[in-house]
Amino acid sequence: MLNDRSSLLSLLETRRSAKPREIVDPGPSADELERILAMAARTPDHGKLSPWRFVTIADDQRDELAKLLREALASEDPSATVAHYEKADQFAHYRGALVVLVSAPVEDHKIPVWEQQLSCGAAGMNLLLAAHALGFVAGWVTGWQAYSEHVRAALCEPRERIAGFIFIGHAGTAPFERPRPALETVRRTWTAPPQVPPIP
Ligand SMILES: Cc1cc2nc3c(=O)[nH]c(=O)nc-3n(C[C@H](O)[C@H](O)[C@H](O)COP(=O)(O)O)c2cc1C
Repeated sequence: MLNDRSSLLSLLETRRSAKPREIVDPGPSADELERILAMAARTPDHGKLSPWRFVTIADDQRDELAKLLREALASEDPSATVAHYEKADQFAHYRGALVVLVSAPVEDHKIPVWEQQLSCGAAGMNLLLAAHALGFVAGWVTGWQAYSEHVRAALCEPRERIAGFIFIGHAGTAPFERPRPALETVRRTWTAPPQVPPIP
């Protein structure tokens, strides 16, 4: 649990995702999950539109999720093999709590959809940080199931879409630290154009 500034800095400097297939129970309790989602919802949001949803899928609904994924494969991917079905079944039964992050932009609004989608991404990042701050690990994945219309229609309202499946639990193995981009490759200092036209 974070209780001082150095813990907060350490969280930000060391947080890494866990691979959902490697996450083990226990996931957050109902109260902990509520707290994680409340923190995730404290996200920059131009226009206060809350253009995101958190759809929780309970432990005892995982068989139903597996059924949904099987139906999606059957109706959308005639070339799916036994291995694809097995993988979908494993996905539906990954351990920990499962939150489906849904992008729910308000269309035809003065706030561009792009900004609302950015807010959804920020909510996802906040959710990861909140989970880690409470002592859990988390992993955000999409995969074909995030782009399946059959799955989308079962989890989202019309015109909403799946931004990711976020599993929250404990690390089965120490989460792998992937290489991070060297700061000089992603950081630029702006140089003003040499000939700025005079202001008329
Ligand atoms: C929108 C989104 C979708 C992602 N989908 C997948 C995925 O389907 N499979 C996967 O292995 N990683 C996926 N990732 C990457 C992982 O969530 C994660 O970024 C990566 O494992 C390293 O995470 P870290 O930088 O938090 O340690 C996705 C990330 C984002 C932001």
